[in-house]
Amino acid sequence: MRGAGAAFRFAHLSDPHLTDPSAATFRELLGKRALGYLSWLRRRRHEHRREFLDGLARDLADRGADHTVVTGDLTHISLPQEFLEARDWLRSLASPEQLTVIPGNHDAYVDMPWDVSLGLWSEHMRADVPDTSARSVFPFVRVRGPVAFIALNSAEPMPPLFATGRLGQTQIDRLEHCLVTLANQRVLRVLLIHHPPVPGSEKWRKRLIDAPALCHLLERMPVDMVLHGHQHRPGHTFVRVTGRQIPVFGIPSASAAGLHCAHASTYNEYDVHQDGNRFRVDVKARRWQQETASYTEEAITSLESGSD
Ligand SMILES: [Fe+2]
Ligand SMILES: [Fe+2]
Repeated sequence: MRGAGAAFRFAHLSDPHLTDPSAATFRELLGKRALGYLSWLRRRRHEHRREFLDGLARDLADRGADHTVVTGDLTHISLPQEFLEARDWLRSLASPEQLTVIPGNHDAYVDMPWDVSLGLWSEHMRADVPDTSARSVFPFVRVRGPVAFIALNSAEPMPPLFATGRLGQTQIDRLEHCLVTLANQRVLRVLLIHHPPVPGSEKWRKRLIDAPALCHLLERMPVDMVLHGHQHRPGHTFVRVTGRQIPVFGIPSASAAGLHCAHASTYNEYDVHQDGNRFRVDVKARRWQQETASYTEEAITSLESGSD
């Protein structure tokens, strides 16, 4: 546990793929879901394991965080019962005030009515100041302590064998409006997106289609860092814009046993220290270690951001 006067701490976890789609009906599995179900049956159910996710949640509770962000892929094939299961898990992890979630491509595997899919997670996706005129809740902004979390939705149903993402021009335009509003506030701007935003950093069939358009906007309206999931591996890259580079952090799956790649269950901790307009952020990974059967800490970097 942390003492009084500690920095503002937030935790980032991603891709828990926590649901069990085994009760799917034949009718529900028609179409693209059939391929996803086979992939879960053959491979994913062995890799994504609830006991690792539960262990991570216990470590997170012991460490303490002022806020937690989950960057998508809570489900496998977007069944209604998976969205309910994921909602219950979100509620068990933290209150809507203390946890922000965005969807991943597995949470938009097929086209689903809002009310029986992402709408079930609305309490964890509520803007501080909702825009009632907008057709989508994305992007939304939540300010917690010294941090403004800016949440995007890159999840959109795609053809079979594609795990691409797209923001769309409307969302990018609304993001610009959010960033203009935040420009004069003393906050650390943290952009949340499921797909990695750096063009060329992901396979073609898994990429963010409009990553160049997003980076073009970030050139004009930079943020302080970007957090993403999707790749199920750690990443520390940059969006390079004129005069600076924006740190980008990826992360392994929160529930990974580490069978199919070397990266077992992990979450990242960000300790934010504010001094006027300047911020220092200490970034650490909490990784599952098979040898000690515990989560151990690894320092990743320490960032400085802001202006004097
Ligand atoms: Fe994933
Ligand atoms: Fe994904």
